[in-house]
Amino acid sequence: MKKPVKVAVTGAAGQIGYALLFRIAAGDMLGPDQPVDLHLLEITPALGALEGVTMELNDCAFPLLNKIVQTDDPNVAFKDCDYALLVGAMPRKQGMERKDLLSANGGIFGPQGKAINDHASRDVKVLVVGNPANTNALIAQQNAPDLDPKCFTAMVRLDHNRAMSQLAEKTGAHNTDIKNVIIWGNHSATQYPDIHHATVKGKDAKPQVDEAWYTDTFIPDVQQRGAAIIKARGASSAASAASAAIDHMRSWALGTPEGEWVSMGIPSDGSYGIEPGVIYGYPCTCKDGKYEIVQGLEINEFSRGKMDATDAELREERAAVEHLFA
Ligand code: NAI
Repeated sequence: MKKPVKVAVTGAAGQIGYALLFRIAAGDMLGPDQPVDLHLLEITPALGALEGVTMELNDCAFPLLNKIVQTDDPNVAFKDCDYALLVGAMPRKQGMERKDLLSANGGIFGPQGKAINDHASRDVKVLVVGNPANTNALIAQQNAPDLDPKCFTAMVRLDHNRAMSQLAEKTGAHNTDIKNVIIWGNHSATQYPDIHHATVKGKDAKPQVDEAWYTDTFIPDVQQRGAAIIKARGASSAASAASAAIDHMRSWALGTPEGEWVSMGIPSDGSYGIEPGVIYGYPCTCKDGKYEIVQGLEINEFSRGKMDATDAELREERAAVEHLFA
């Protein structure tokens, strides 16, 4: 058996946390031979609920769960951590402007970024799930000057999985027949779900669906899926978000299959005309614990417009939080 790795999860007593922790402890994220220490961070009023979650984790008697740390102190939570899943965030309240939401979250992700900078492993893998995920990831990254900026990522994998599922349904295929969809940009309604490079059962996906379905149904449905879940369930996506977080980290840590990519929100580096300075959804391959942007994909005029629109939104978000950078 390998040496345990430390996995920090924030917002651990929340609904995504409840769907996530048991799967991490069961080995779904890092594999069946990788023991884990769970470092669970919550705000002080939620420590009682966190104790209940910890009791349940213990009651599962998971073979891979080595140790649980419960805390309301980010410096303790991120101490020596190898993986950090930043789920806890300030929810949008009625009447709150997006700008206020961004600032309120800056108050969380700035200090957490600093605590990661000061205490985490030097090649920590950070995934931000808490919304607005891309810009929260940017705030954390900008408060961690001693770490490689590439340590910080944001989750667009749920959107990626939603796109796969919808394309499978439309073409009468199974999810496993769908490869290489892309979510470009922000985890928001401006994201661009792109199937120009996707395949269904090994054949180009695009000719298998009609253009009107692609532009008028598929794209808005993927963009608005979160709202549709809230409407149907009376609560936001939790188990599917947790599952996507597991997928994101597993791909990053254990690699992507040959010839396949996944979508990850990562620091832009100029690829595909997206200037550095934002955390942008890109197609990525992963190997040996590192990710790389898939290069050389042809971008048509339709895609260009959508990719630039979501970039513009991310740059607006950035401008609203720049004062929070270290
Ligand atoms: P929730 O409200 O059930 O749980 C959030 C938890 O975070 C609460 O237990 C709260 O006490 C905790 N928390 C708040 N501030 C904290 C801090 N400073 N440190 C540590 N913990 C803190 O919310 P839920 O449903 O678990 O969602 C969490 C976040 O994930 C939300 O921001 C939501 O919008 C986002 N989300 C992102 C998705 C994505 O695809 N990127 C998909 C679905 C949700």
